[in-house]
Amino acid sequence: MITDPGRTPPSVELHVHVEGTLEPELIMELAGRNHVELPFRDLDDLRARYAFDDLPHFLALYYANMAVLRTADDFAAMTRAYLERAAVGGVRHVELFVDPQAHVARGVALEAVVDGVAGALGDTAPGLGITTGLIACFLRDRPADEALDVLRALLAAGAPLLGVGLDSAEVGHPPGAFGEVFALAAEAGLRRVAHAGEEGPPAYVWEALDVLGAERIDHGIRSLEDPALVERLVRDAVPLTVCPLSNVRLRCVDDLGAHPLPEMLRRGLRVSIHSDDPAYFGGYLDDNYRAVTAALGLSRDELARLARHGVDAAFVSPARAAELHAGIDAWRGAG
Ligand code: HPA
Ligand code: ZN
Repeated sequence: MITDPGRTPPSVELHVHVEGTLEPELIMELAGRNHVELPFRDLDDLRARYAFDDLPHFLALYYANMAVLRTADDFAAMTRAYLERAAVGGVRHVELFVDPQAHVARGVALEAVVDGVAGALGDTAPGLGITTGLIACFLRDRPADEALDVLRALLAAGAPLLGVGLDSAEVGHPPGAFGEVFALAAEAGLRRVAHAGEEGPPAYVWEALDVLGAERIDHGIRSLEDPALVERLVRDAVPLTVCPLSNVRLRCVDDLGAHPLPEMLRRGLRVSIHSDDPAYFGGYLDDNYRAVTAALGLSRDELARLARHGVDAAFVSPARAAELHAGIDAWRGAG
């Protein structure tokens, strides 16, 4: 997709899964390089599978496609491709999710994952003017003991982590089971975020806050169903990282015109917008900005407000936040 950075604000990406940036072309290239047999004939046959009924349906393809990621170089190539695309779309700061368990569980060394992703963040992002952090997510549909083992291994290896998160199939997997994992992460000085209220009920958002100590909620769109929860989120200014194109592609909302984003803003929630799994859901962060602008008629001021919320929600120094805010204000003023 051709991008026009002038029409979307300089932005902060807080909700993107690096494995969700693995584009079909790179899947084919890595499959060839690593001699991985894929369960589809060609690129067209792969692309035909990108229509999803719900989150578990998407996750089946997302995990299957990871089979092509074998070496640190593969993880680095995926990460670099993402950073380059993000820079073109005006992204200035990224807190990147990675799913280490998904790779360790299929026999890839934890070091290959961390060295590849963190190495590419370190060698590529500065030249693009992007600051970064890495957030290791745990898979809520796998045992909490396994998550604890992976967290201990990450800490023992000195992985350069900013924080931890919680993702994968939500319904039937409430956050509370991961209390010990998040407590250990907090003890280790890591920031904590969690997916909640994407497909799951508001009760999962409460648990993410109260049991995990989550500092940000990823998605959280179902919070609107519970007025007491909205009050809590507004009172504590809890950031919600909302992913509009993802919500449509996973059928959490019927279409973009019906997205609860405007209502969330009206209620005073700290919403920012993000791309989730851009290679799967039809667009990167700038594409999400353009799509909500077209579907919801957001003004330049409203776009700037969303972008500023992203900065406020980012785990950055006050000095970096001031730089990022200044970039957004300059963009708004130039409109
Ligand atoms: N939701 C939950 N887990 C995920 C997602 C998502 O959209 N993408 C990758 N893991
Ligand atoms: Zn996500």
